[in-house]
Amino acid sequence: MAKPFLKWAGGKGKLAPLIVERIGRGPNGINRYHEPFLGGGAVFFALQEAGLIRDASLADSNPDLIATYQAVRDDAEGVIAALDTLSRRYLARESSQRGLYYYEVRNQHRLRRPDRKAARLLFLNKTCYNGLYRVNSKGHFNVPHGRYVNPTILDADRLREASASLAGTELHAEDFAEACARAQPGDFVYLDPPYQPLSATSQFTKYTSGDFGFADQERLRDAFDDLTARGVPALLSNSSHPDIHDLYRDYDRELVPMGRAINSNGRGRAAIDELLVSNLSRAEGKAGGSPAQTQAV
Ligand SMILES: C[S@@+](CC[C@H](N)C(=O)[O-])C[C@H]1O[C@@H](n2cnc3c(N)ncnc32)[C@H](O)[C@@H]1O
Repeated sequence: MAKPFLKWAGGKGKLAPLIVERIGRGPNGINRYHEPFLGGGAVFFALQEAGLIRDASLADSNPDLIATYQAVRDDAEGVIAALDTLSRRYLARESSQRGLYYYEVRNQHRLRRPDRKAARLLFLNKTCYNGLYRVNSKGHFNVPHGRYVNPTILDADRLREASASLAGTELHAEDFAEACARAQPGDFVYLDPPYQPLSATSQFTKYTSGDFGFADQERLRDAFDDLTARGVPALLSNSSHPDIHDLYRDYDRELVPMGRAINSNGRGRAAIDELLVSNLSRAEGKAGGSPAQTQAV
């Protein structure tokens, strides 16, 4: 029962069962699963657990993230040993001294060994502010130290299970357009890009050194059109922003209530709807069925 081993902005743990259900309706199963915006991989791990994936090609434009997945896949024990060392050294310090150790590890930009590089990223992910991932113009991780009292830095079983799930998968550090071009009819593609921000001040699009701007959203729609034209079934999630609805106006769209909540006018917390776009009815019977349980738009 593998689960994500990273905290990742926009993690899709809550949407995963719905996506599993959509994909599971395909009459012939999936030849190969593609996830071009892998992040924390919540949907990939959920599909694995549901036994729906035989073969997968996973990608993200963040090369350090992909290198971490590769190290966990190929050498889980090496990553566990290196992370155990970091974790022990951090937790052995008084809480007022842990920040110093965090910044020492954060400054180690030049590590070469894949197991140590992966352990550093995992360590920073568990001890930084809110599990954010942000790099400066040099590509150096620059999130400040977090405020967890007793963080679980190493979960060896989770890393071993993830390693077993990742065995045999392809991992690519690349732009989504390359990952989509690889998909074939009979495969399935799930796309979870950085969301179009609902408010002008939202920082949620800052995942790597480059922003994912509206020109990228348009490029992604073109890639989605191309998948549709080639008969490759695909689902895409995004924010329910009018401009995104407009980009995908020719596709089946449904609003999915997400567990994530925001304070609305100080009057309690309201669930936010997100958008799920599907080409299943247009990619001609390769997978599919009509949406259920959610509100069509
Ligand atoms: C919303 S997150 C994916 C979250 C993931 N579904 C999860 O459950 O954790 C978006 C991901 O897209 C990646 N990304 C940003 N721009 C990209 C691009 N042009 N091509 C591929 N990946 C990109 C980011 O590095 C980030 O990991």
